[in-house]
Amino acid sequence: MKEKRTCGQRCEDFGNFVWNSDNGTFMGRTPAKWVYISLYYVAFYAVMTALFSLSIWVLMYTLSPYTPDYQDRLQSPGVMVWPNTYGEEIVEITYNRSNKQSWMKMSNILKNFLEPYNETIQQSRNNYTCAKGQYFIQSQFTAPHHNKWSCPFCQSMLGACSGISDPTFGYNCTMPCVIIKMNRIINFLPSNITGVAPYVNCTVLVRNVQKNIYLNDQNIADIKYFPPNGTMDLSYFPYYGNLAQPNYVNPLVAVRFSLVNQKQATVQCRVVADKISYENIHDPYEGKVTFSLKAES
Ligand SMILES: *[C@@H]1O[C@H](CO)[C@@H](O)[C@H](O)[C@H]1NC(C)=O
Ligand SMILES: *[C@@H]1O[C@H](CO)[C@@H](O)[C@H](O)[C@H]1NC(C)=O
Ligand SMILES: *[C@@H]1O[C@H](CO)[C@@H](O)[C@H](O)[C@H]1NC(C)=O
Ligand SMILES: *[C@@H]1O[C@H](CO)[C@@H](O)[C@H](O)[C@H]1NC(C)=O
Ligand SMILES: *[C@@H]1O[C@H](CO)[C@@H](O)[C@H](O)[C@H]1NC(C)=O
Ligand SMILES: *[C@@H]1O[C@H](CO)[C@@H](O)[C@H](O)[C@H]1NC(C)=O
Ligand SMILES: *[C@@H]1O[C@H](CO)[C@@H](O)[C@H](O)[C@H]1NC(C)=O
Repeated sequence: MKEKRTCGQRCEDFGNFVWNSDNGTFMGRTPAKWVYISLYYVAFYAVMTALFSLSIWVLMYTLSPYTPDYQDRLQSPGVMVWPNTYGEEIVEITYNRSNKQSWMKMSNILKNFLEPYNETIQQSRNNYTCAKGQYFIQSQFTAPHHNKWSCPFCQSMLGACSGISDPTFGYNCTMPCVIIKMNRIINFLPSNITGVAPYVNCTVLVRNVQKNIYLNDQNIADIKYFPPNGTMDLSYFPYYGNLAQPNYVNPLVAVRFSLVNQKQATVQCRVVADKISYENIHDPYEGKVTFSLKAES
């Protein structure tokens, strides 16, 4: 049986552990051993730090600051529409043409969206004449500040939908304009067929899938595209990333619809090119955008 020890004996035991004058040990080790073990740990951590720094350096050395390393989720670009007024599920562009507040809301969204495309801003930021109809491949950084050039896109290229001749963008009547934009993907070339540029093609859907309602496809008398044919010129591709092209602006396509009869329709606009897919059931915005248009009075 273990003999019961008093508090005083315990304190003495601890004192012996801290400094044992019999064997000359401090905390169970002689001072010489303490020096050895300290040196060992110093060396150990020095090696670990060196290894860690080396691996970080190797990683940084192999990363390019100009492209993200993981963009495998983005093989084909998404497509968006402005005015981007969301309803319950799809984009719902509903306005009352007799109510100035209602249609001003739509035209203001477009006006604000087009601000970076102002001629003055584009002329000062992207003062470069791009050769139209071909990819603008740049291997060198020839623009100021060690950048690559970006082609200017001015709002006047959107003709009747530019907001210059008609600041209402057609929302004071039944000819509303929408603007279609395709998301950027670094180094993406939309077509591998020489000289064929992507273009926007809008079609009237008879059935609104989300709301499961059927509409007359005779509600749109005419669809007009700006620039002509709804083309996104090849000179805006490829995009080299925000570091190489800080002044890049996406090419846009404006579409003007002439609403008649019931003055409402569901429209799907696709960006057509052989490298742009649009049948991904998991991503309804891949390669296309669907929206409803409704002009009340
Ligand atoms: C549209 O606005 C006018 C004027 O403000 C109003 O009389 C009319 O009821 C509105 N129409 C709808 C469908 O809300
Ligand atoms: C572009 O910006 C300039 C200066 O800010 C302005 O005077 C001009 O009206 C703008 N152009 C358009 C089309 O809004
Ligand atoms: C654009 O660049 C040309 C020379 O390349 C220069 O003469 C002109 O003033 C520049 N324009 C603007 C608006 O900076
Ligand atoms: C809509 O606005 C444009 C430009 O301000 C004008 O020319 C046109 O007459 C207006 N239309 C209606 C129906 O008010
Ligand atoms: C273009 O790409 C598509 C799909 O990526 C391929 O099927 C087609 O053969 C290519 N065409 C040319 C001319 O390379
Ligand atoms: C646009 O799409 C419709 C329906 O998919 C098709 O019938 C039409 O030929 C297309 N137009 C162009 C110019 O590709
Ligand atoms: C638009 O397409 C038509 C028919 O494909 C073509 O004749 C015309 O040159 C095109 N216009 C522009 C500006 O590309």
